[in-house]
Amino acid sequence: MTRTLAALFVPALAGAIALASCTSTTPDEPTLTGDALLDPNNCLPCHADQFREWSGSMHAYAGEDPVFIAMNKRMQRETNGQAGSFCVSCHAPLAVRAGKTVDGLNLGELPSFMRGVTCAFCHAASAVEGTHNNPLRLATDGVVRGGIADPAKSPHRSAYSELHDREVLPSSSMCGACHDVVTPAGAHIERTFSEWNASLYAKPGQLSCGKCHMEGREGVAARVEGAPRRRVHDHTMAAVDVALTPFTDEDGQRAAVQRLLDATLLAKLCVKQTPAAGLVAEVTLDNAFAGHSFPSGAAQDRRAWVELIAYRGDAVVFSSGVVEEKKAVAALPDPNLWLLRDKVFDAAGKEVHMFWRAARYESELLPPAVTADPTDPAFYHAVTRTYSLPQPVPDRVTMRVRMRPVDFDLLDDLVATGDLDPKILDRIPTFELGGTVKEWTNDRGFRCTD
Ligand code: HEC
Ligand code: HEC
Ligand code: HEC
Ligand code: HEC
Ligand code: HEC
Repeated sequence: MTRTLAALFVPALAGAIALASCTSTTPDEPTLTGDALLDPNNCLPCHADQFREWSGSMHAYAGEDPVFIAMNKRMQRETNGQAGSFCVSCHAPLAVRAGKTVDGLNLGELPSFMRGVTCAFCHAASAVEGTHNNPLRLATDGVVRGGIADPAKSPHRSAYSELHDREVLPSSSMCGACHDVVTPAGAHIERTFSEWNASLYAKPGQLSCGKCHMEGREGVAARVEGAPRRRVHDHTMAAVDVALTPFTDEDGQRAAVQRLLDATLLAKLCVKQTPAAGLVAEVTLDNAFAGHSFPSGAAQDRRAWVELIAYRGDAVVFSSGVVEEKKAVAALPDPNLWLLRDKVFDAAGKEVHMFWRAARYESELLPPAVTADPTDPAFYHAVTRTYSLPQPVPDRVTMRVRMRPVDFDLLDDLVATGDLDPKILDRIPTFELGGTVKEWTNDRGFRCTD
């Protein structure tokens, strides 16, 4: 991919420099205006890094995602179109604002720059007029907003905006506008922004979304002659979801997800004799590094769970959370299962997979830090779960946390109604969180792992 882009880049750069020097003679007359600002391909010549990173991101994929397309199709059918632009207003927001779609069923016929969360959408956001369901106001003045206070001359107008400056907390409200979803029936099913707002990270001097999700590095913001060196920001924004159809830099995306997941949780495993419960394994999980709950966002479709196995010799004497490939975790007949997720229910109280029907949710997630003061009782926010083990003491006990961005209960349901191609099921990853892989062995005595 890098090579293809590099090849594209050489001739394109020549044009870009010509454009840039052309504007320097007519500084007040931007040449990149109007509809030309909507197409990311028009940014590529000068912003190749941001373009490459964004091209392999879930933002670029948001309108291509086959699970999204399947669910939206099914929702339109089952509500007779009454749900309208609910889904597309975040997954293809430009198309909705430009009046090119009402229900998202025609996304495939629109130019690709109308799908997904694009450069133009984020960089035209001029105000946040609410806290959920994408209340972003888009400017029509052709000014490209960003975090640079003194932008060099370019073919487009530019301006500093605190909504785009990850050094200040208001920038979280731009991201949060979409990363918080309330269903038509009023269930607050995605709460990443409100979780962040209630956490330590929203306090003065703490960390905006961009501080964790858009890493900075030294470089040039635009590859044009004389561009100043400054801090530029990663647009990959990987987390859990991955492309499920051929897409730009899929391997890079999976690797970025793995890196972040490996460094998200801290885990501890203890085996001990207790007066009340006898022999137990105690698993402690600490959401030490996410700026919101873990998991967060689409937690109604996402599953994270603990796999714990006790051995005597090679024989398994106890296990929990051992999940087969392509089998839904929730279908496991396992009374001890520690499963982190949201469950959603419709207005009649029935559990549902299709979250647009949700009127209520139940949630079991790991909470984020709420205070940096170690004397505050709320400081300790790790969660412990106890498993009873059969006597005698096992030789070793292993644990790990596994995670699926979307699970098979939802996917099988979409395949059953003919909305999703069953081939997609082969592409669903199950990640292992590196920081949670622990092993206790009997020779250490009743001491916990680190
Ligand atoms: C011909 C080159 C060129 C093209 C094409 C171009 N830009 Fe720029 N852009 C620049 C330059 C130069 C800067 C200023 C960089 C600096 O000051 O370090 C800039 C700055 C920016 C900034 C930062 C503004 C700020 O104040 O923080 C954003 C965001 C941006 N461009 C987005 C875009 C988008 C989106 C497109 C495509 C619609 C685009 N640019 C197309 C040259 C270009
Ligand atoms: C216009 C709405 C919108 C805005 C604004 C927005 N996002 Fe997103 N974001 C989305 C959508 C939609 C997806 C998921 C696409 C999918 O999975 O199909 C997403 C995906 C992501 C993911 C990947 C999630 C995963 O599970 O893999 C991260 C991380 C993310 N966004 C962070 C941010 C940050 C940080 C900002 C602010 C700088 C931001 N987003 C602004 C709509 C938005
Ligand atoms: C999800 C929202 C989002 C999308 C989509 C997005 N950007 Fe950005 N971009 C940002 C934010 C936020 C910053 C500012 C980070 C900071 O300065 O703290 C930024 C910064 C920039 C900058 C300034 C240099 C830098 O790296 O900080 C350029 C140039 C830029 N973006 C271009 C683009 C282009 C081109 C695209 C599409 C290919 C794009 N952006 C897509 C949110 C987005
Ligand atoms: C202190 C750092 C930090 C801050 C602040 C932060 N995040 Fe995250 N975020 C993480 C980590 C770590 C993960 C988990 C790793 C992963 O999912 O791969 C994560 C995961 C996510 C995910 C995937 C959801 C999931 O189930 O894990 C989304 C979406 C997301 N963040 C968006 C945001 C938004 C939007 C904000 C601001 C409102 C924000 N984040 C603030 C660190 C942070
Ligand atoms: C307010 C904005 C918003 C609305 C409305 C919205 N989404 Fe999303 N969607 C997001 C964001 C943000 C993410 C990424 C969250 C994360 O990864 O935690 C996402 C992720 C997804 C995903 C990938 C993760 C998963 O759950 O499998 C699918 C599929 C999806 N959305 C489908 C839909 C459908 C279908 C609708 C309408 C019924 C819809 N979305 C409505 C913002 C929105």
